[in-house]
Amino acid sequence: MIMLGLLTPTKYSRCVGQFFGRFKQTNRHRSFLSSGQSDEYIRSFITENTETAGEQSLTPEIKLRLFTPNCRFWRERPELWPFDDPYWAIYWPGGQALSRFLLDTPEVCQDKKVLDLGSGCGASAIAAKLSGAAHVVANDIDSVAAVATHMNCELNGLAPPICLTNNMIGSEPEGFDLILLGDMFYDEAIATSLHSWLDLCIKTHGTAVLIGDPGRAQFEGHGIRRLLRRLAQFELPESVREENYGLTCSSVWHYHPELYLN
Ligand SMILES: C[S@@+](CC[C@H](N)C(=O)[O-])C[C@H]1O[C@@H](n2cnc3c(N)ncnc32)[C@H](O)[C@@H]1O
Repeated sequence: MIMLGLLTPTKYSRCVGQFFGRFKQTNRHRSFLSSGQSDEYIRSFITENTETAGEQSLTPEIKLRLFTPNCRFWRERPELWPFDDPYWAIYWPGGQALSRFLLDTPEVCQDKKVLDLGSGCGASAIAAKLSGAAHVVANDIDSVAAVATHMNCELNGLAPPICLTNNMIGSEPEGFDLILLGDMFYDEAIATSLHSWLDLCIKTHGTAVLIGDPGRAQFEGHGIRRLLRRLAQFELPESVREENYGLTCSSVWHYHPELYLN
């Protein structure tokens, strides 16, 4: 089995897993490089090293710049990759289900102030915008993801959301109506810190929380799982199943902390 980087989901895709496995060790500490690069450099790098895709996902109406087997770094020596692991170049199954759900039920976002935390390629932030959200913030600690999100918004003819790259987990909660978490329960430490921070956001601002997850072990085994109600489940398209070995469905969950009392 290929060992993956610390931030990589354990129930990983065969292709995506191999891809990230190659990045292990070589890229984990490269954020200092991306922070020193101009947006212009990052943009042209993304243009050269991704392909417009997304039609094979649960949201074919959203176009995204993603890694595909046609891209150079699918096979290139990972030490040549100049940034942190490119999570933003994959459209994760949890984010796909969440975005599909938002597009199918726009009233969930309509006129709302929405935070997409761990936004990656920005697809769920884009879905929130398309569904009529009043204000959308995309937050990802990888600054390259912010540039990718801008480019993906442009691809879809949308003005970009506000992109923040600070770690918001644990910070003073802001008054968001809705927090979106697409495939963020891939690491137990992140899941646990997220859980307490979400409770704080709900207590202080009554924020609603939606989680998209394809049944990863860290999610299914986490304490938050029994406080969730499933809102929707989607069968993953064939190509997404093939890429994500072992995953067949992805669900959207609504967090109800009051279930603690029952
Ligand atoms: C598995 S990807 C999911 C991306 C996207 N939501 C999707 O479903 O396609 C997880 C993302 O979370 C980001 N991330 C990890 N820790 C974070 C944190 N503390 N705050 C914000 N983003 C974080 C990573 O950089 C990565 O882009």
